[in-house]
Amino acid sequence: MRVLGIESSCDETGVAIYDGEHGLVAQELYSQIELHARYGGVVPELASRDHIRKILPLIDKVLRDSGRGTHRVSPGSPPPVDGVAYTAGPGLVGALLVGATVARSLAYSWGVPTLGIHHMEGHLLSPLLEPPAPAFPFLALLVSGGHTLLVSAKAHGDYRILGQSLDDAVGEAFDKTAKLMGLPYPGGPHLARMANSGNPKAYEFPRPMVRKPGLDFSFSGLKTSVLLAWKACAKTESDKADIAASFQEAVVDTLEIKVQRALQQTGHGAVVVAGGVGANVALRERLSALAGETGTEVFFPSPRLCTDNGAMIAYAGWLRFRDNGFTTEKRSQLRPRWPLDKY
Ligand code: KG4
Ligand code: ZN
Repeated sequence: MRVLGIESSCDETGVAIYDGEHGLVAQELYSQIELHARYGGVVPELASRDHIRKILPLIDKVLRDSGRGTHRVSPGSPPPVDGVAYTAGPGLVGALLVGATVARSLAYSWGVPTLGIHHMEGHLLSPLLEPPAPAFPFLALLVSGGHTLLVSAKAHGDYRILGQSLDDAVGEAFDKTAKLMGLPYPGGPHLARMANSGNPKAYEFPRPMVRKPGLDFSFSGLKTSVLLAWKACAKTESDKADIAASFQEAVVDTLEIKVQRALQQTGHGAVVVAGGVGANVALRERLSALAGETGTEVFFPSPRLCTDNGAMIAYAGWLRFRDNGFTTEKRSQLRPRWPLDKY
């Protein structure tokens, strides 16, 4: 069985086809970074319009690459896929509408079922696309531009949220700190690069909420401390690098402490790290070291699967179609705000 997956929740148009026998058979990704860069952040209206421009050519490309022709199906011939999965939330409502409308229209014309997928479930399952794949149960640290979540994933579809950010997401904190220092959008990878030449001990930024019990996060206080340090410094390249390195160190320390606490609390023997910030090298190194010390396994998807993509939606859709039957779900509304544990 084959599933077409469509991701359009923010500023990436991602499409892919997952085949139950052959795995990922085709994938395409278009990033709108250049479009939004001049505004210093995602402009939702422009994002929606650009998804409309890009989505059908990308779908045509993956259909051709998958060896099953184009979206045009002649009468009597089989549909190019057996189901269509799309991101139904959380995300920008206009951007989500583009993916949902195209998914449902194509599925209607092909006579195949559709399924709305939770964007963060896509991220959570993305490490399963590559060997060695983690086995359930595991702890998931999901760190993206919109979310920071610690999840106990007991089985496919059985997720319990252990902790989440009470304010900014980690990626958002990276992006805002980078913007403050004049780095281009999206700032996370630029700030991480700049941190390489800085001293992580130059500034003693707070490690938010680590002394309080519990597994929630808060990054707004850290953001304020960085702002104060930035205002007070001479803004040389070396100041920038030191602030970037010290900020990254504070974030990585905080995430490590919470992951360690969550491992103790749940007894899980494996951690999966996903979402855009999962591409951060300092975070990867630190969590790999923690895994070594505690005898747990750690799994990171390759960087291209950490950030938004269609492959994770095609795969998440295929799993749900496989488990629940290839039928169209009864609920069909978009869910721009959707808790991961309320599927
Ligand atoms: O998962 P994602 O592609 O989109 C959302 O669902 O939000 O995550 C994007 C976020 C952005 O905030 C970006 O700056 C951050 O991930 N990011 C990074 C790195 N690469 C991407 N943050 C820190 N270090 C990186 N290497
Ligand atoms: Zn994402």
